[in-house]
Amino acid sequence: MSTAPNLTAVPATATIPRHIAIIMDGNGRWAKQRFLPRVAGHKAGVEAVRKVTRAARALGVEALTLYAFSSENWRRPEEEIGDLMGLLRLFIRSDLDELVRENVRLRIIGDYRRFAPDIVNLVDDAVARTASNTGPLLAIALNYGAQAELAAIARRLAEHAVAGEVDPAAIDADMIEQALDTAALPPLDLMIRTSGEQRLSNFLLWQAAYAELLFVDTLWPDFDAAALAAAVAAFGQRQRRYGGL
Ligand code: IPE
Ligand code: IPE
Ligand code: MG
Repeated sequence: MSTAPNLTAVPATATIPRHIAIIMDGNGRWAKQRFLPRVAGHKAGVEAVRKVTRAARALGVEALTLYAFSSENWRRPEEEIGDLMGLLRLFIRSDLDELVRENVRLRIIGDYRRFAPDIVNLVDDAVARTASNTGPLLAIALNYGAQAELAAIARRLAEHAVAGEVDPAAIDADMIEQALDTAALPPLDLMIRTSGEQRLSNFLLWQAAYAELLFVDTLWPDFDAAALAAAVAAFGQRQRRYGGL
């Protein structure tokens, strides 16, 4: 049984972001601080994923998008990539029942079909098992890169234009928006990056246009329900203007 998340930082009247995205960074440094192998940091990171997804549900966040593996993470040593893939398999096997039970709708963004066939099957099965759910959305970014996402849209629109199916003059922001991997999710309200790094690392570049950005020093394995509640409370203090007054 999990204990109820500590969400006391969020005032009852606070505006809850509909869609939060998290760049879960700092697993390696967390492990290094403890003289542990990097994989220990990734394992602890999975535990943080559990805590934070539960807390997001408890807060009433409609969609949570987690950056789990970027299209640039293939540059890491083969052994580390293998460890990350192993943890992904474990996570799906151990946590899918809870997601189904909690009415979560699982989505994947990114080109995950480049992963090993057994992972592709596991992921497809997991998404299918939550497809008839009606509750919060959990999107996991696997082999995701925003530039590749946008380039694929440009390519597809160009093909449609050449085939005479799309008038180039009709291509606008709405059309691109609807072609994004995140088209089914609410607009991105809050983007959090842990570990003190202040960059987007090719995550949701289009979607972040008017998202509130929050960079925290906490390393991802130490990020928990209270940290998410603090982030949501900070979001509640922001004034969003969208270019207006
Ligand atoms: C984030 O932690 C997890 C992934 C990128 C998969 P890192 O592995 O990037 O940890 P640091 O940045 O080396 O501390
Ligand atoms: C971003 O973290 C990717 C994920 C969290 C999955 P990285 O650790 O890969 O980013 P950089 O290399 O520091 O920009
Ligand atoms: Mg990192």
